[in-house]
Amino acid sequence: MSNLFDLSGKNALLTGGTGALGTAMAQGLINAGARVALLSRNPENLTAAAAKLGGDAGAVILLRGDVTDAASLESAREELRQKWGKLDILVNAAGGNRPGATIGPDQTFFDLKMEDFAGVSKLNLDGTVIPSLIFGQLLTENGGSIVNISSMAADRAITRVVGYSAAKAAIDNFTKWLAVELAKKYEGRVRVNAIAPGFFIGEQNRRLLLNEDGTLTDRGNTIIRNTPMNRFGEAEELMSTLVWLCADASRFVTGIVVPVDGGFSAFSGV
Ligand SMILES: NC(=O)c1ccc[n+]([C@@H]2O[C@H](COP(=O)([O-])OP(=O)(O)OC[C@H]3O[C@@H](n4cnc5c(N)ncnc54)[C@H](OP(=O)(O)O)[C@@H]3O)[C@@H](O)[C@H]2O)c1
Repeated sequence: MSNLFDLSGKNALLTGGTGALGTAMAQGLINAGARVALLSRNPENLTAAAAKLGGDAGAVILLRGDVTDAASLESAREELRQKWGKLDILVNAAGGNRPGATIGPDQTFFDLKMEDFAGVSKLNLDGTVIPSLIFGQLLTENGGSIVNISSMAADRAITRVVGYSAAKAAIDNFTKWLAVELAKKYEGRVRVNAIAPGFFIGEQNRRLLLNEDGTLTDRGNTIIRNTPMNRFGEAEELMSTLVWLCADASRFVTGIVVPVDGGFSAFSGV
């Protein structure tokens, strides 16, 4: 049974692999036996994330790249090819919100600037499609798994985050579309799924959810009230779902979005 979850000999690339969730997910893949490549824009973030990762030093390589810039990803792909020769797993974890694409408490929808909406869409949606184009092709050589990172904002309206929500909803649709396309064209050898994390404290949302003294903000309180497990998630809690989606254990699973959310998406609020 444990062989079904074994990723020994597999090579994985995580965009956003230096983030709060990305680094934990990278550790999960290493724990299951994979080698990981972390990709992000900032070399200091790359070095800091690599220092946090436990396991064989040879298990990690660092790639600079911007998920919205195809040329930078093509260079990263060449570096990856030279170092590893093959890729088995792509995790599209780079993403996040942008303040301008959020409707503040004193604003209305009519204050939204399209350049901000387009910016957050570019990071999250284009930033998933472009790496899938550039690295996904490597997966067709030996088969493999793509895992996109969605959000609770994709499915039901979450106040304020208009641009982020639209982009994550498009990622869910893209996940299903690409799953069907690749299953049909590559005899089921390339699978595409997504994880929709619930609410986890990260650098981007810390100030929205927690006051400086660590107590919950009004928004943080509303989220916890609507999360039946009554707490935020821990980044490590994404590891097992990711390993399952990348491993043979899920070999007949493609085109799904798995919530890891303490029950948030199941709860009506009543
Ligand atoms: N935290 C949550 O509660 C939560 C909930 C649901 C979904 N998510 C999603 O989970 C994913 C990871 O979130 P997180 O909390 O780990 O975010 P994070 O801590 O803010 O990390 C974001 C990561 O993306 C990289 N990145 C940002 N822009 C990039 C670009 N243009 N090109 C390449 N890399 C880029 C960052 O590195 P550089 O700055 O070095 O480029 C960093 O590695 C995101 O897609 C987010 O939307 C998070």
